[in-house]
Amino acid sequence: MAPDDIPGVVALQRSCFPAPFPEELLWSEEHLLQHLTLCPEAQFVAVQSEMIIGSASNLIISEGNWCGHHSWEVTVGGPFLNMHDPQGSTLYGVDVSVHPAKRGQGVGRALYARRFEFVAERRLVRYGTACRVPDLSRSGLSPEAYGAAVAAGRMVDRTMTPLLRYGLSYLGIIKEYMDDPESLNCAALLERVIA
Ligand SMILES: CC(C)(COP(=O)(O)OP(=O)(O)OC[C@H]1O[C@@H](n2cnc3c(N)ncnc32)[C@H](O)[C@@H]1OP(=O)(O)O)[C@@H](O)C(=O)NCCC(=O)NCCS
Repeated sequence: MAPDDIPGVVALQRSCFPAPFPEELLWSEEHLLQHLTLCPEAQFVAVQSEMIIGSASNLIISEGNWCGHHSWEVTVGGPFLNMHDPQGSTLYGVDVSVHPAKRGQGVGRALYARRFEFVAERRLVRYGTACRVPDLSRSGLSPEAYGAAVAAGRMVDRTMTPLLRYGLSYLGIIKEYMDDPESLNCAALLERVIA
């Protein structure tokens, strides 16, 4: 991602996170500019015919922060990613977005491949994230039962399932992770340790 890409990323966010996802949680130009100031090498975009069709935002967090399994706000330090720690162990994914018209064509997989490559280049321990589980609210299951069922492949979640296909392992559910009605404010904790 470069500064010129920012308007395209802001527009992409709006197509990728429609209501009821809270609009105030979408990246603004100001947020993205700060990400590029903090950790420019870890902000990625997918471009097709000069159009931004995918993006992935990241920060590096400390081992203690990762092991704490805290809420989004505490883990990343809000939308300006104040918890970025260049000496940390974990590349933490705060967003992956692919334009609705470009899904199912491997764009998310390519953005994830770049994340894993970054972990190896920097000799970090892992890639980690806490992902939305937007189909939880209509499943009728408890968050824990739902997370386990999706991880085992007995149920499909439109966000968690693709991330499992990228080789992430399921570690459990974090409750009250962020304001996200479809996910009942829960998130699935996922990691991939890179040898
Ligand atoms: C999640 C997301 C990034 C996936 O991107 P994508 O480019 O469509 O995914 P890919 O084409 O790389 O697909 C990866 C794998 O997931 C599977 N997959 C993709 N969408 C799926 C869905 N809705 N349900 C089940 N499986 C799905 C694909 O079949 C593929 O599996 P395979 O490679 O084994 O065949 C995209 O759907 C998205 O932007 N969602 C909205 C934003 C969002 O919720 N982001 C995550 C925030 S935590």
